[in-house]
Amino acid sequence: RMLRIKSPEDMARFVKEQKKAGRTVGFVPTMGFLHEGHLSLFQKAVETSDCVIASVFVNPTQFGEREDYINYPQDTERDARLAEEAGVDALFLPDESAVYPNGTAVTVKVNEKTDVLCGRSRPGHFDGVATVLTKLFTIVQPDHVYFGMKDAQQVAVVSSLIQAFHFPVKMIPCPIVREPDGLARSSRNVRLNADERKEAAELRKGLEQGMKTLKQGERDFEKIADAVRSYYRGHLKLGKIDYVDVLNYPDLKRNGTVLSGRFIIACAVRYGRARLIDNITGSTA
Ligand code: PAJ
Repeated sequence: RMLRIKSPEDMARFVKEQKKAGRTVGFVPTMGFLHEGHLSLFQKAVETSDCVIASVFVNPTQFGEREDYINYPQDTERDARLAEEAGVDALFLPDESAVYPNGTAVTVKVNEKTDVLCGRSRPGHFDGVATVLTKLFTIVQPDHVYFGMKDAQQVAVVSSLIQAFHFPVKMIPCPIVREPDGLARSSRNVRLNADERKEAAELRKGLEQGMKTLKQGERDFEKIADAVRSYYRGHLKLGKIDYVDVLNYPDLKRNGTVLSGRFIIACAVRYGRARLIDNITGSTA
């Protein structure tokens, strides 16, 4: 049976026992309202770590708009059932006061990879992510951490965090899980109305137009981005483009005048009650 743990002290004690027994510890941090995307991370963790720990904590410091935080969907009982079915050994469900015992007295600031994409649209967002993950990594002390490429910039930023603070943990990036029509699974998809939900399938199609242009030999960053933008202009009636960008990955810069090596084609689109993100990563080599 899966353990439910609320206090950081109890979690630290549990992990210590697991390590003493010679088990590797895998950790999957989430904000809950679990879907197939999260479950794919649990599955990967079960395959590659002896003991799997997941957390459900809606982290207030990474939200910009208060609305988005207050309205973030939650269903802890369902989350616990799904996590247990997926083979999670212990679910960490801390209160805000347990994670932030002295409020925001000490926080983490991220100074690279945050001036683009979601970092530009959501100032302070990645500082909040880095702050909560510093706390969670310190409590859980995992050997492996699992993150989805749905949030590719988060993977890049967390890799920088791990390196900067010498966390003895290996980052395992996992592929994006999609709905049958191509929409990337997200806890926020429930905030789309029927028309928006239908249109949202165009997000990935636009990114694929960028990929197609690249495969045909285009190496100008901006021209690839323009192929995506022009597709959206023709196919998005309800959604408003927040950004479309083409960068090298994971440094999130444009290295050189022409694209070569690993890259990301990324977008964010705003609907009435939800902002959706998606991306495709690849390599020219
Ligand atoms: P959350 O949005 O709940 O996502 C938790 C993890 O699930 C992240 O690593 C995210 O990339 C992954 N994920 C979400 N949708 C996915 C999909 N469709 N396919 C694959 N993976 C997917 O990301 C966060 O929470 C928070 O920022 C957190 C890291 C927990 C810090 O608060």
